[in-house]
Amino acid sequence: MSITKSQVLNALSYVNDPDLGKDLVTLKMIENIQIEGNSVRFLLVLTTPACPMKEQMKQACINAIHHLIDKNIEVQIDFGSQVTSRRQDNGQILPNVKNIIAIASGKGGVGKSTVAVNLAVGLAQKGAKVGLIDADIYGPSIPIMFDLQGQRPQVAEINGKHKIIPIEKYGVKTLSIGFLADQTQAVVWRGPMVSSALRQFVTDTEWGNLDYLIIDLPPGTGDIHLTLVQTVPVTGAIVVTTPQLVSKADVVKAVGMFQIPQINVPIIGFVENMSWFTPPELPDKKYYLFGKDGGKQLATLYEVPLLGQIPIVEKVRAGGDEGKPIVLDTQSPVAQSFDQFIQNTAQQIAIRNANIAPTSKVNITE
Ligand SMILES: Nc1ncnc2c1ncn2[C@@H]1O[C@H](COP(=O)(O)OP(=O)(O)OP(=O)(O)O)[C@@H](O)[C@H]1O
Ligand SMILES: [Mg+2]
Repeated sequence: MSITKSQVLNALSYVNDPDLGKDLVTLKMIENIQIEGNSVRFLLVLTTPACPMKEQMKQACINAIHHLIDKNIEVQIDFGSQVTSRRQDNGQILPNVKNIIAIASGKGGVGKSTVAVNLAVGLAQKGAKVGLIDADIYGPSIPIMFDLQGQRPQVAEINGKHKIIPIEKYGVKTLSIGFLADQTQAVVWRGPMVSSALRQFVTDTEWGNLDYLIIDLPPGTGDIHLTLVQTVPVTGAIVVTTPQLVSKADVVKAVGMFQIPQINVPIIGFVENMSWFTPPELPDKKYYLFGKDGGKQLATLYEVPLLGQIPIVEKVRAGGDEGKPIVLDTQSPVAQSFDQFIQNTAQQIAIRNANIAPTSKVNITE
């Protein structure tokens, strides 16, 4: 039997990317087809290294080749990824950053920083290039959560300009006001100083090539949020909530800010944190300490995906306090909850990039 490349491409043109609704050939996701006797090998280039559809797509490709060419062909698929982007700002701000993702919440203390850190480290573990900005100028968390207290970033002269070099740990490039200023100073800063600090994190920092730049925001809506959307085109926002519906009014306000027509940042989805507690000695029990499914209900209300539900686990808090994010402990069950959230998030960002127009930087006349 002699198999040809065009037969393979023809068969694969019947396989759709389930998220993007187009076939793999049209989407240019097939590369490097090699045929040797009875075996076919090719590279399937996914839209993110954290793609949850990998196995499903692999099986669909094998089936298509078996059905449309010959059922005895041995198929070998290599995976690669090319994270998609939707930027249109002429590449002036962070030209080599593909996606800028804000992590927001209505209320404080719901787990934004925990979610941001584990998302960043988890994406990096899967092979993505990731940056993380701690935009909480008054209450930075990242130095502790990365065990980087007391570290100072380097400054280098690049093309005649002084640039801050982010600190790298766990495969993530990160920057926090906690690395630059004494905390007792930053707490007395007024709005304009806070905004200018955040602008420096974006414009005066050498981020290099990134697939995802995650921004850990302070709670609620305020100057920092406005500065962010005025400084960079935010690809999308992830809203963190507990299941407690008392906090619903705050969430409505936080979501409302991203949705006002002048800002217009898409909501990638909700993540429900502290969803339930399972005592280690009773692994089949779930206690819904803060109510049940509040995040799920909000996601339904706003018609956006629920990206994940993360239980309350002592190791998550300990990981934060010790500077070892829980996703590094890949065997722990809660790391698997985070993993699902991370894959869903990467998938929804790819869908957003395929379907929604680029976000513009906001111009607000004061
Ligand atoms: N799923 C979880 N299980 C156990 N503890 C958690 C979980 N999520 C967060 N925590 C803990 O709750 C506390 C608050 O979390 P975190 O600092 O991430 O919230 P935040 O929304 O960023 O707060 P802030 O509004 O102050 O920025 C931290 O001590 C953190 O370790
Ligand atoms: Mg925080």
